[in-house]
Amino acid sequence: MARQGLIGRIGIAAVLVLTASACGTDSGSRPTPPQAALDGVGPITLATGKDTSGNLQNQIDGWNSAHPDQRVSLIELPENADAQRQQMVQNAQTRSDTYAVLNLDVIWTAEFAANQWVVQLPEAEFPLDKLLPATVETGTYFNRLYAVPTNSDGGLLYYRKDLLDAAGLTPPKTWAELSAACAKVLPANPGTSCYAGQFEKYEGLTVNFSEAVNSAGGAVVGPDGKPTLDTEAARKGLEFLVNGVKSGEIPGKARTFKEEEGRRAFQAGELVFHRQWPYQYLKAAATDGSSAVAGKFAVAPLPGLTGPGSSTLGGHNLAVSAFAKNKKTALEFIKYLSSEEQQRANLEKSSQAPTWAALYDDPALTARFPYLPTLKQSILGAKRRPAVVKYQEVSTAIQNAVYDAMGGKGDVGGALTGLQARLSELTK
Ligand code: GLC
Repeated sequence: MARQGLIGRIGIAAVLVLTASACGTDSGSRPTPPQAALDGVGPITLATGKDTSGNLQNQIDGWNSAHPDQRVSLIELPENADAQRQQMVQNAQTRSDTYAVLNLDVIWTAEFAANQWVVQLPEAEFPLDKLLPATVETGTYFNRLYAVPTNSDGGLLYYRKDLLDAAGLTPPKTWAELSAACAKVLPANPGTSCYAGQFEKYEGLTVNFSEAVNSAGGAVVGPDGKPTLDTEAARKGLEFLVNGVKSGEIPGKARTFKEEEGRRAFQAGELVFHRQWPYQYLKAAATDGSSAVAGKFAVAPLPGLTGPGSSTLGGHNLAVSAFAKNKKTALEFIKYLSSEEQQRANLEKSSQAPTWAALYDDPALTARFPYLPTLKQSILGAKRRPAVVKYQEVSTAIQNAVYDAMGGKGDVGGALTGLQARLSELTK
Protein backbone atom coordinates (compact mmCIF):
# COMPACT_ATOMS: atom_id res chain seq x y z
CA MET A 1 0.00 0.00 0.00
CA ALA A 2 2.65 2.49 1.11
CA ARG A 3 4.72 1.48 -1.89
CA GLN A 4 1.84 2.15 -4.30
CA GLY A 5 1.19 5.46 -2.64
CA LEU A 6 4.78 6.51 -2.91
CA ILE A 7 5.08 5.59 -6.58
CA GLY A 8 1.77 7.27 -7.30
CA ARG A 9 2.90 10.43 -5.63
CA ILE A 10 6.27 10.28 -7.34
CA GLY A 11 4.48 9.89 -10.66
CA ILE A 12 2.32 12.94 -10.02
CA ALA A 13 5.35 14.95 -8.93
CA ALA A 14 7.13 14.01 -12.14
CA VAL A 15 4.23 15.27 -14.27
CA LEU A 16 4.17 18.49 -12.31
CA VAL A 17 7.89 18.93 -12.81
CA LEU A 18 7.61 18.36 -16.53
CA THR A 19 4.81 20.88 -16.92
CA ALA A 20 6.09 23.42 -14.42
CA SER A 21 7.88 26.51 -15.63
CA ALA A 22 11.40 27.27 -14.45
CA CYS A 23 10.48 27.39 -10.79
CA GLY A 24 6.86 26.59 -10.02
CA THR A 25 5.34 24.94 -6.97
CA ASP A 26 3.43 21.73 -6.54
CA SER A 27 0.45 21.07 -4.29
CA GLY A 28 1.50 23.59 -1.70
CA SER A 29 4.85 21.98 -0.92
CA ARG A 30 8.32 23.07 -1.95
CA PRO A 31 9.25 25.12 -5.03
CA THR A 32 9.78 22.85 -8.00
CA PRO A 33 13.32 23.22 -9.31
CA PRO A 34 13.81 23.03 -13.05
CA GLN A 35 14.63 19.47 -14.08
CA ALA A 36 18.14 19.35 -15.48
CA ALA A 37 18.59 17.58 -18.79
CA LEU A 38 20.41 14.33 -18.22
CA ASP A 39 22.64 14.49 -21.26
CA GLY A 40 26.34 14.25 -22.00
CA VAL A 41 28.14 10.99 -22.63
CA GLY A 42 31.76 10.35 -21.69
CA PRO A 43 34.07 9.66 -18.76
CA ILE A 44 32.72 10.22 -15.26
CA THR A 45 33.73 9.72 -11.62
CA LEU A 46 32.06 7.98 -8.71
CA ALA A 47 32.66 9.66 -5.35
CA THR A 48 32.04 7.35 -2.44
CA GLY A 49 33.14 6.64 1.08
CA LYS A 50 36.10 4.30 1.45
CA ASP A 51 35.12 1.02 -0.12
CA THR A 52 35.38 -1.28 2.88
CA SER A 53 33.61 -4.00 0.87
CA GLY A 54 36.57 -4.34 -1.49
CA ASN A 55 34.28 -5.14 -4.44
CA LEU A 56 33.49 -1.74 -5.91
CA GLN A 57 36.48 -1.48 -8.23
CA ASN A 58 35.54 -4.89 -9.52
CA GLN A 59 32.05 -3.66 -10.37
CA ILE A 60 33.47 -0.53 -12.01
CA ASP A 61 35.86 -2.67 -14.07
CA GLY A 62 32.83 -4.57 -15.37
CA TRP A 63 31.24 -1.32 -16.54
CA ASN A 64 34.50 0.06 -17.99
CA SER A 65 35.22 -2.98 -20.10
CA ALA A 66 31.75 -2.69 -21.67
CA HIS A 67 31.91 1.13 -22.00
CA PRO A 68 35.47 2.11 -22.96
CA ASP A 69 34.34 5.61 -24.00
CA GLN A 70 32.42 6.21 -20.77
CA ARG A 71 34.94 5.09 -18.22
CA VAL A 72 34.19 5.53 -14.55
CA SER A 73 37.01 6.49 -12.16
CA LEU A 74 36.61 5.76 -8.48
CA ILE A 75 37.21 8.59 -6.01
CA GLU A 76 37.40 7.15 -2.52
CA LEU A 77 36.61 9.55 0.30
CA PRO A 78 37.26 8.84 4.00
CA GLU A 79 35.65 5.93 5.83
CA ASN A 80 33.93 8.24 8.32
CA ALA A 81 30.48 9.31 7.05
CA ASP A 82 30.73 12.88 8.39
CA ALA A 83 34.06 13.39 6.62
CA GLN A 84 32.62 12.02 3.36
CA ARG A 85 29.74 14.46 3.54
CA GLN A 86 32.06 17.36 4.22
CA GLN A 87 34.01 16.68 1.02
CA MET A 88 30.85 16.22 -1.04
CA VAL A 89 29.38 19.45 0.32
CA GLN A 90 32.59 21.38 -0.42
CA ASN A 91 32.63 19.99 -3.93
CA ALA A 92 29.02 21.08 -4.45
CA GLN A 93 29.49 24.52 -2.93
CA THR A 94 32.30 25.27 -5.37
CA ARG A 95 30.10 23.89 -8.20
CA SER A 96 32.94 21.57 -9.10
CA ASP A 97 32.41 18.90 -11.74
CA THR A 98 35.00 16.62 -10.13
CA TYR A 99 32.36 14.30 -8.65
CA ALA A 100 29.74 13.08 -11.14
CA VAL A 101 27.95 10.25 -9.33
CA LEU A 102 27.66 10.68 -5.57
CA ASN A 103 27.19 7.72 -3.28
CA LEU A 104 24.99 9.46 -0.73
CA ASP A 105 24.37 8.11 2.74
CA VAL A 106 20.60 7.75 3.24
CA ILE A 107 20.66 10.70 5.65
CA TRP A 108 21.88 13.29 3.13
CA THR A 109 19.12 13.22 0.51
CA ALA A 110 17.17 16.15 1.99
CA GLU A 111 20.21 18.42 2.20
CA PHE A 112 21.53 17.63 -1.27
CA ALA A 113 18.11 17.83 -2.92
CA ALA A 114 17.02 21.03 -1.15
CA ASN A 115 20.26 22.75 -2.15
CA GLN A 116 19.90 21.46 -5.71
CA TRP A 117 23.35 19.87 -5.54
CA VAL A 118 21.91 16.72 -7.13
CA VAL A 119 19.40 16.47 -9.95
CA GLN A 120 15.98 14.91 -9.90
CA LEU A 121 16.03 11.45 -11.48
CA PRO A 122 13.47 9.97 -13.90
CA GLU A 123 11.87 7.38 -11.61
CA ALA A 124 10.13 5.60 -14.49
CA GLU A 125 13.56 4.45 -15.65
CA PHE A 126 14.22 2.54 -12.43
CA PRO A 127 12.43 -0.60 -11.19
CA LEU A 128 11.57 1.07 -7.90
CA ASP A 129 8.68 -1.28 -7.20
CA LYS A 130 11.17 -4.17 -6.99
CA LEU A 131 13.18 -2.50 -4.21
CA LEU A 132 12.43 -2.53 -0.49
CA PRO A 133 10.02 0.43 -0.12
CA ALA A 134 11.83 1.87 2.90
CA THR A 135 15.02 2.18 0.84
CA VAL A 136 13.25 4.05 -1.96
CA GLU A 137 11.80 6.50 0.54
CA THR A 138 15.32 7.40 1.67
CA GLY A 139 16.17 8.52 -1.88
CA THR A 140 13.15 10.79 -2.27
CA TYR A 141 12.56 14.35 -1.15
CA PHE A 142 9.10 15.90 -1.34
CA ASN A 143 8.04 12.80 -3.26
CA ARG A 144 10.62 13.20 -5.98
CA LEU A 145 13.42 10.76 -6.60
CA TYR A 146 16.94 12.17 -6.21
CA ALA A 147 18.97 9.08 -5.44
CA VAL A 148 18.62 5.39 -6.26
CA PRO A 149 19.16 2.86 -3.46
CA THR A 150 22.08 0.57 -4.21
CA ASN A 151 22.76 -0.82 -0.81
CA SER A 152 20.70 -0.93 2.32
CA ASP A 153 21.95 -1.52 5.85
CA GLY A 154 20.42 -2.88 9.01
CA GLY A 155 22.06 -3.40 12.38
CA LEU A 156 22.77 -7.00 13.41
CA LEU A 157 24.07 -8.62 16.58
CA TYR A 158 27.15 -10.66 15.70
CA TYR A 159 27.87 -13.10 18.50
CA ARG A 160 30.38 -15.78 19.35
CA LYS A 161 28.29 -18.89 18.84
CA ASP A 162 31.13 -21.13 20.04
CA LEU A 163 31.30 -19.38 23.41
CA LEU A 164 27.53 -19.21 23.87
CA ASP A 165 27.11 -22.84 22.87
CA ALA A 166 29.79 -23.90 25.36
CA ALA A 167 27.91 -22.05 28.10
CA GLY A 168 24.58 -23.57 27.02
CA LEU A 169 23.19 -20.18 25.95
CA THR A 170 21.11 -18.92 23.03
CA PRO A 171 21.58 -15.39 21.65
CA PRO A 172 20.17 -12.70 23.97
CA LYS A 173 16.88 -11.04 23.11
CA THR A 174 17.20 -8.37 25.78
CA TRP A 175 19.99 -6.23 27.19
CA ALA A 176 19.64 -8.01 30.53
CA GLU A 177 20.16 -11.36 28.79
CA LEU A 178 23.19 -9.93 27.01
CA SER A 179 24.72 -8.90 30.36
CA ALA A 180 23.89 -12.27 31.89
CA ALA A 181 25.50 -14.08 28.96
CA CYS A 182 28.69 -12.05 29.35
CA ALA A 183 28.79 -12.72 33.08
CA LYS A 184 28.75 -16.42 32.29
CA VAL A 185 31.10 -16.45 29.32
CA LEU A 186 33.78 -13.89 30.18
CA PRO A 187 35.45 -15.48 33.24
CA ALA A 188 36.57 -18.42 31.09
CA ASN A 189 37.73 -16.13 28.27
CA PRO A 190 40.17 -13.56 29.54
CA GLY A 191 41.09 -10.92 26.96
CA THR A 192 37.56 -10.92 25.59
CA SER A 193 35.11 -8.06 26.22
CA CYS A 194 31.34 -8.18 26.26
CA TYR A 195 29.94 -5.74 23.73
CA ALA A 196 30.83 -3.03 21.23
CA GLY A 197 29.20 -1.00 18.52
CA GLN A 198 30.27 2.19 16.74
CA PHE A 199 31.00 4.57 19.61
CA GLU A 200 33.55 7.03 18.21
CA LYS A 201 32.19 10.58 17.93
CA TYR A 202 30.79 10.45 14.37
CA GLU A 203 27.64 9.34 12.53
CA GLY A 204 27.98 5.79 13.77
CA LEU A 205 27.37 7.04 17.33
CA THR A 206 24.13 8.68 16.21
CA VAL A 207 23.14 5.35 14.67
CA ASN A 208 23.93 3.40 17.85
CA PHE A 209 22.24 5.92 20.15
CA SER A 210 19.10 6.05 17.98
CA GLU A 211 19.04 2.28 17.94
CA ALA A 212 19.31 2.12 21.74
CA VAL A 213 16.41 4.55 22.10
CA ASN A 214 14.34 2.67 19.49
CA SER A 215 15.15 -0.61 21.20
CA ALA A 216 13.80 0.70 24.50
CA GLY A 217 10.52 1.52 22.77
CA GLY A 218 11.25 5.21 22.18
CA ALA A 219 12.23 7.38 19.25
CA VAL A 220 14.68 10.25 18.72
CA VAL A 221 12.01 12.24 16.88
CA GLY A 222 8.27 11.64 16.70
CA PRO A 223 6.09 11.44 13.58
CA ASP A 224 5.86 15.26 13.55
CA GLY A 225 9.66 15.50 13.28
CA LYS A 226 10.02 16.94 16.80
CA PRO A 227 12.44 15.41 19.31
CA THR A 228 11.07 12.99 21.89
CA LEU A 229 14.07 12.55 24.15
CA ASP A 230 12.32 13.67 27.33
CA THR A 231 10.94 10.17 27.77
CA GLU A 232 11.63 7.20 30.00
CA ALA A 233 12.43 5.10 26.91
CA ALA A 234 15.11 7.55 25.78
CA ARG A 235 16.59 7.47 29.29
CA LYS A 236 16.70 3.67 29.28
CA GLY A 237 18.31 3.71 25.84
CA LEU A 238 21.09 6.09 26.81
CA GLU A 239 21.58 4.25 30.11
CA PHE A 240 22.25 1.05 28.20
CA LEU A 241 25.26 2.73 26.59
CA VAL A 242 26.44 4.78 29.56
CA ASN A 243 26.12 1.95 32.09
CA GLY A 244 27.81 -0.38 29.62
CA VAL A 245 30.94 1.76 29.70
CA LYS A 246 30.72 2.23 33.48
CA SER A 247 30.46 -1.48 34.15
CA GLY A 248 33.17 -2.37 31.65
CA GLU A 249 30.81 -4.45 29.51
CA ILE A 250 31.61 -1.96 26.78
CA PRO A 251 35.43 -1.77 26.80
CA GLY A 252 36.90 1.77 26.96
CA LYS A 253 38.63 1.10 23.66
CA ALA A 254 35.24 0.80 21.93
CA ARG A 255 34.83 4.56 22.30
CA THR A 256 37.36 4.84 19.46
CA PHE A 257 35.54 2.35 17.24
CA LYS A 258 34.04 3.18 13.89
CA GLU A 259 32.91 0.23 11.76
CA GLU A 260 36.37 -0.95 10.80
CA GLU A 261 38.03 -0.74 14.22
CA GLY A 262 35.16 -2.76 15.71
CA ARG A 263 35.30 -5.28 12.90
CA ARG A 264 39.00 -5.85 13.50
CA ALA A 265 38.37 -6.34 17.22
CA PHE A 266 35.58 -8.84 16.57
CA GLN A 267 37.69 -10.69 14.01
CA ALA A 268 40.56 -10.85 16.48
CA GLY A 269 38.27 -12.61 18.94
CA GLU A 270 38.18 -9.68 21.37
CA LEU A 271 34.39 -9.38 21.62
CA VAL A 272 31.55 -11.71 22.52
CA PHE A 273 28.91 -9.41 20.95
CA HIS A 274 29.26 -6.81 18.25
CA ARG A 275 26.59 -4.53 16.79
CA GLN A 276 27.54 -4.22 13.16
CA TRP A 277 26.28 -3.93 9.56
CA PRO A 278 26.09 -6.95 7.24
CA TYR A 279 29.32 -6.20 5.37
CA GLN A 280 31.21 -7.68 8.32
CA TYR A 281 29.78 -11.14 7.68
CA LEU A 282 32.05 -12.30 4.85
CA LYS A 283 35.14 -10.64 6.29
CA ALA A 284 34.68 -12.32 9.68
CA ALA A 285 33.94 -15.61 7.92
CA ALA A 286 37.13 -15.51 5.82
CA THR A 287 39.19 -18.67 6.17
CA ASP A 288 42.44 -17.21 4.79
CA GLY A 289 43.81 -16.56 8.28
CA SER A 290 42.56 -12.96 8.46
CA SER A 291 39.77 -13.82 10.91
CA ALA A 292 40.22 -15.64 14.19
CA VAL A 293 36.45 -16.16 14.45
CA ALA A 294 35.70 -17.85 11.13
CA GLY A 295 33.22 -20.66 11.79
CA LYS A 296 32.76 -19.47 15.38
CA PHE A 297 30.19 -16.70 15.08
CA ALA A 298 26.58 -16.23 14.04
CA VAL A 299 24.16 -13.36 13.61
CA ALA A 300 20.98 -12.53 15.56
CA PRO A 301 18.51 -9.62 15.73
CA LEU A 302 19.57 -6.72 17.94
CA PRO A 303 18.43 -7.10 21.55
CA GLY A 304 16.32 -4.47 23.30
CA LEU A 305 15.04 -3.44 26.71
CA THR A 306 12.21 -5.95 27.03
CA GLY A 307 12.50 -7.95 23.80
CA PRO A 308 14.10 -7.70 20.36
CA GLY A 309 15.41 -4.25 19.52
CA SER A 310 14.97 -2.17 16.43
CA SER A 311 17.68 -1.02 14.05
CA THR A 312 18.44 2.36 12.58
CA LEU A 313 18.04 2.25 8.81
CA GLY A 314 21.35 2.65 7.02
CA GLY A 315 22.37 2.43 3.42
CA HIS A 316 23.50 4.37 0.38
CA ASN A 317 21.85 5.81 -2.69
CA LEU A 318 23.41 6.96 -5.95
CA ALA A 319 22.76 10.50 -7.16
CA VAL A 320 23.92 12.64 -10.09
CA SER A 321 25.73 15.84 -9.19
CA ALA A 322 24.08 18.95 -10.61
CA PHE A 323 27.53 20.06 -11.76
CA ALA A 324 28.52 16.85 -13.55
CA LYS A 325 29.34 17.06 -17.24
CA ASN A 326 28.29 13.65 -18.55
CA LYS A 327 24.95 13.20 -16.82
CA LYS A 328 23.60 10.65 -19.31
CA THR A 329 26.53 8.36 -18.59
CA ALA A 330 26.06 9.00 -14.86
CA LEU A 331 22.42 7.92 -15.13
CA GLU A 332 23.28 4.78 -17.07
CA PHE A 333 26.02 3.87 -14.62
CA ILE A 334 23.55 4.20 -11.74
CA LYS A 335 21.20 1.83 -13.58
CA TYR A 336 24.07 -0.63 -13.91
CA LEU A 337 25.18 -0.51 -10.25
CA SER A 338 21.66 -0.68 -8.90
CA SER A 339 20.59 -3.56 -11.17
CA GLU A 340 19.53 -6.87 -9.68
CA GLU A 341 22.46 -8.61 -11.33
CA GLN A 342 25.04 -6.27 -9.78
CA GLN A 343 23.37 -6.33 -6.38
CA ARG A 344 23.35 -10.12 -6.38
CA ALA A 345 27.01 -10.26 -7.37
CA ASN A 346 27.88 -7.66 -4.77
CA LEU A 347 26.07 -9.57 -2.04
CA GLU A 348 27.95 -12.71 -3.02
CA LYS A 349 31.32 -10.96 -2.96
CA SER A 350 30.91 -8.50 -0.10
CA SER A 351 27.80 -9.47 1.94
CA GLN A 352 26.49 -5.92 1.65
CA ALA A 353 22.73 -5.60 2.02
CA PRO A 354 20.93 -5.40 -1.33
CA THR A 355 17.92 -3.17 -1.92
CA TRP A 356 16.22 -5.66 -4.29
CA ALA A 357 13.51 -7.32 -2.18
CA ALA A 358 13.56 -10.65 -4.05
CA LEU A 359 17.21 -11.33 -3.20
CA TYR A 360 16.27 -11.75 0.47
CA ASP A 361 14.05 -14.71 -0.39
CA ASP A 362 16.29 -16.36 -2.97
CA PRO A 363 16.96 -19.94 -1.80
CA ALA A 364 20.53 -20.09 -3.15
CA LEU A 365 21.39 -16.84 -1.40
CA THR A 366 19.70 -17.67 1.91
CA ALA A 367 21.54 -21.01 1.93
CA ARG A 368 24.87 -19.22 1.56
CA PHE A 369 23.97 -16.25 3.80
CA PRO A 370 21.79 -17.69 6.57
CA TYR A 371 21.44 -14.28 8.19
CA LEU A 372 19.47 -12.84 5.23
CA PRO A 373 16.00 -13.36 6.79
CA THR A 374 17.26 -11.70 10.02
CA LEU A 375 18.66 -8.83 7.98
CA LYS A 376 15.41 -8.43 6.06
CA GLN A 377 13.53 -8.17 9.37
CA SER A 378 16.12 -5.71 10.65
CA ILE A 379 15.62 -3.47 7.61
CA LEU A 380 11.83 -3.81 7.56
CA GLY A 381 11.62 -2.88 11.24
CA ALA A 382 14.31 -0.20 11.07
CA LYS A 383 13.64 3.43 11.92
CA ARG A 384 14.89 6.27 9.75
CA ARG A 385 17.03 9.04 11.06
CA PRO A 386 15.38 12.48 10.70
CA ALA A 387 14.95 13.39 7.00
CA VAL A 388 15.79 17.06 7.48
CA VAL A 389 17.95 19.51 5.52
CA LYS A 390 19.92 20.37 8.67
CA TYR A 391 20.55 16.71 9.42
CA GLN A 392 24.26 17.16 10.08
CA GLU A 393 23.58 19.68 12.85
CA VAL A 394 21.07 17.32 14.41
CA SER A 395 23.55 14.48 14.28
CA THR A 396 26.44 16.55 15.61
CA ALA A 397 24.31 17.56 18.62
CA ILE A 398 23.53 13.90 19.29
CA GLN A 399 27.15 12.84 18.87
CA ASN A 400 28.40 15.50 21.32
CA ALA A 401 25.82 14.73 23.99
CA VAL A 402 26.11 10.96 23.76
CA TYR A 403 29.89 10.88 23.52
CA ASP A 404 30.21 13.00 26.67
CA ALA A 405 27.60 10.95 28.54
CA MET A 406 29.38 7.71 27.67
CA GLY A 407 32.61 9.30 28.84
CA GLY A 408 31.04 9.88 32.25
CA LYS A 409 30.60 13.66 31.84
CA GLY A 410 27.40 14.78 33.54
CA ASP A 411 24.40 12.53 34.06
CA VAL A 412 22.02 10.82 31.67
CA GLY A 413 19.04 13.01 32.60
CA GLY A 414 21.00 16.22 32.04
CA ALA A 415 22.39 14.98 28.72
CA LEU A 416 18.91 14.21 27.42
CA THR A 417 17.40 17.48 28.66
CA GLY A 418 20.14 19.42 26.88
CA LEU A 419 19.81 17.37 23.73
CA GLN A 420 16.03 17.69 23.68
CA ALA A 421 16.39 21.49 23.87
CA ARG A 422 19.03 21.63 21.13
CA LEU A 423 17.09 19.38 18.77
CA SER A 424 13.91 21.37 19.42
CA GLU A 425 15.76 24.49 18.22
CA LEU A 426 17.11 22.72 15.15
CA THR A 427 13.75 21.30 14.12
CA LYS A 428 11.70 24.48 14.77
C1 GLC B 1 26.82 2.71 7.30
C2 GLC B 1 25.36 3.01 6.96
C3 GLC B 1 25.10 4.49 6.95
C4 GLC B 1 25.51 5.09 8.27
C5 GLC B 1 26.97 4.78 8.57
C6 GLC B 1 27.37 5.26 9.95
O1 GLC B 1 27.65 3.11 6.28
O2 GLC B 1 25.03 2.45 5.72
O3 GLC B 1 23.75 4.78 6.69
O4 GLC B 1 25.27 6.47 8.31
O5 GLC B 1 27.18 3.39 8.49
O6 GLC B 1 28.66 4.99 10.23
